[in-house]
Amino acid sequence: MSEQIINYIASPSKKLTGDIKVPGDKSVSHRSIMFGSLADGVTHVSGFLEGEDALATLKSFKALGVKIEGPKNGEVTIHGVGMNGLKTPDGDLDLGNSGTSMRLMTGLLSGQAIDCTLTGDRSLSSRPMKRVTDPLALMNANIETNDGKAPLKIKGGSELKGIHYDMPIASAQVKSCLLLAGMYAEGETSVTEPGVTRDHTERMLRAFQYPVKTEGNKISIEGGHSLKACDLQVPGDISSAAFFMVGASIAEGSELLIKNVGINPTRTGVIDILKLMGGDLTLVKEYQCGGEPVADILVKSAQLKGIEIPERLVPLAIDEFPVLFVAAACAEGTTILTGAKELRVKESDRIQVMADGLQTLGIDAKPTEDGIVIQGGRLTSGKVHAHDDHRIAMSFSIASLCAEGEIVIEDCANVATSFPGFVKIANNVGLSIKEELV
Ligand code: S3P
Repeated sequence: MSEQIINYIASPSKKLTGDIKVPGDKSVSHRSIMFGSLADGVTHVSGFLEGEDALATLKSFKALGVKIEGPKNGEVTIHGVGMNGLKTPDGDLDLGNSGTSMRLMTGLLSGQAIDCTLTGDRSLSSRPMKRVTDPLALMNANIETNDGKAPLKIKGGSELKGIHYDMPIASAQVKSCLLLAGMYAEGETSVTEPGVTRDHTERMLRAFQYPVKTEGNKISIEGGHSLKACDLQVPGDISSAAFFMVGASIAEGSELLIKNVGINPTRTGVIDILKLMGGDLTLVKEYQCGGEPVADILVKSAQLKGIEIPERLVPLAIDEFPVLFVAAACAEGTTILTGAKELRVKESDRIQVMADGLQTLGIDAKPTEDGIVIQGGRLTSGKVHAHDDHRIAMSFSIASLCAEGEIVIEDCANVATSFPGFVKIANNVGLSIKEELV
């Protein structure tokens, strides 16, 4: 977590126009460092996200003895050390706010010969880690937790064995953790997922020529192969683009082109949900970028309507719900979300924190155990709290587009974890956000 306390003061503004490019995809950036570090040869990455979360992964692999140059203008060069070349770090590996770093690295490090301790900030230290340490224990990993939470002390030298794991929750982090451990396990490791989750790990394994099999909802990997270095281009992060998709939808008269957005079908739930709500979004140019599909997305304002969000779309839009709740607050009628209990264990309890903030702003938003019911209405003004959660801070910034008065958002420093330069980019296309250092 950043030490600096930053509040945003977001004033009502009119419309979003022009072109923007959002920073690199966070999930892909993390994985590029992990796979590049373990590969044979030199991996070049472009479009890398220079945000605190991805930088925490990069710094940790440097501490594990990997020579990494950059990032400079999104370019990173990783001198891979091979599957078993990581070295014991001098101290704990501090992963800041990043759940992806911690859960994926726990799998990857379980199969090494070295001992490591993974720590994180207040938010990360309160997040559930048993979802990865329980199945890893079945694989014979030796990990000590603090009552199921970080710090995680990983003891190296365990002989991992392959397992089959039926995942109780749809989580790409759990799936990826087990696939990474599976590279070091004897025999086959397979997982079945209860719902489709992002498949960046599988795509990147293939890009690094490591065999992985996907059959329906079952993904399998065999231990003992190696990774071959490659060049990777990281597409723009759809999770960052989502703020502007909602912003341009709710602000009357908007027409915004968001360029170079990753549209991997396991991530596009936000587009599907906005379209179901009546949003006007068009993919104007589609192309491939480093094994991932990419598009420029044109968004025009539209009168949104409330919907019942189909549960199958929940894992495909898991990080976009805070801003989708803002869309629901500006829509005509009622929006109902169910099957989204996972939102309660993200960087904050995103159901409660969004409901509290929307209520402060005059919206009827009722949290339920696994979702929320939001009645579209008029956003007023007031002071809300981002609870150290980057996506909450940016969601309430977007809400200012339709608010009657100023929204003061407390505790926004963590926007830097996923979207460095957010305020500048947002203000360039029509938002009116002032940063206040406290
Ligand atoms: C991620 C998976 C998702 C997502 C997170 C990034 C990943 O978490 O919320 O921001 O890169 O694998 P879960 O797997 O916990 O749903």
